[in-house]
Amino acid sequence: MPGLLHLDSSADVGESTTRALTRTFADTWRGLSAAHTVTYRDLHADPPPHLNHPALHWAPRLRRPGEIPDPAAAAAQDALLAELLAADVLLVGAPMYNWSLPSTLKAWLDQVHVLGVTAPFDSAERPLAGRPVVIVSARGATYGSGSPTEGWDHSVPPIELVLGRSCGMEVTVVTTDGTLASRIPALAELRDEARGQLDAAKRSVVELAARLGRRPAGVGPRADGR
Ligand SMILES: Cc1cc2nc3c(=O)[nH]c(=O)nc-3n(C[C@H](O)[C@H](O)[C@H](O)COP(=O)(O)O)c2cc1C
Repeated sequence: MPGLLHLDSSADVGESTTRALTRTFADTWRGLSAAHTVTYRDLHADPPPHLNHPALHWAPRLRRPGEIPDPAAAAAQDALLAELLAADVLLVGAPMYNWSLPSTLKAWLDQVHVLGVTAPFDSAERPLAGRPVVIVSARGATYGSGSPTEGWDHSVPPIELVLGRSCGMEVTVVTTDGTLASRIPALAELRDEARGQLDAAKRSVVELAARLGRRPAGVGPRADGR
């Protein structure tokens, strides 16, 4: 059963670009077969807790004596980890907020980036290695290479570092820039480019969902042996 874990984090529940694109991805995924399941988590509507104890960054076996997190907080983290580890493909809606990522999405990353569980520490084991993650990014202005704002995006890089570099997931980023071009007069000249990027992003999410959904199950090692 190819399972998708679909995360949204935009605070805009009406006209969000990332929500529209992740919905298209998830709908394409569901359309592949009755066996293509989707687990949905809206990080804006139901924000994950902030880490309330540093021990939660470590696998239980790696915690020092006296580092005892609140059992309820540990259980909440375990549920988020189980959901991620059970997914064949992860889809993340990641709008840019203040050149960074929404705090709800950051809280989720903090919960699931656990040394000795999802990230290697005392062994090379990386249960998420090779599993695909698609990050759908929307940015009000533009941040392309060669632009004066190149390098200002601190929203996608931390997600890539945590899920890609540390956890070993196979990262694909779908980007739409200039989403505020129709609202901010100073960005008006970006309107055509923004429309073109949005159209390309729509095509990309459909193509990615179809391709990743048809990938043989079990590509990349899985913690649960499936
Ligand atoms: C709280 C907030 C902060 C934002 N900060 C930035 C920013 O720093 N740079 C930028 O280019 N756009 C910024 N934007 C615009 C969003 O990145 C843009 O509207 C994007 O489309 C949001 O994703 P969504 O359409 O999925 O909600 C911000 C929007 C909000 C609501």
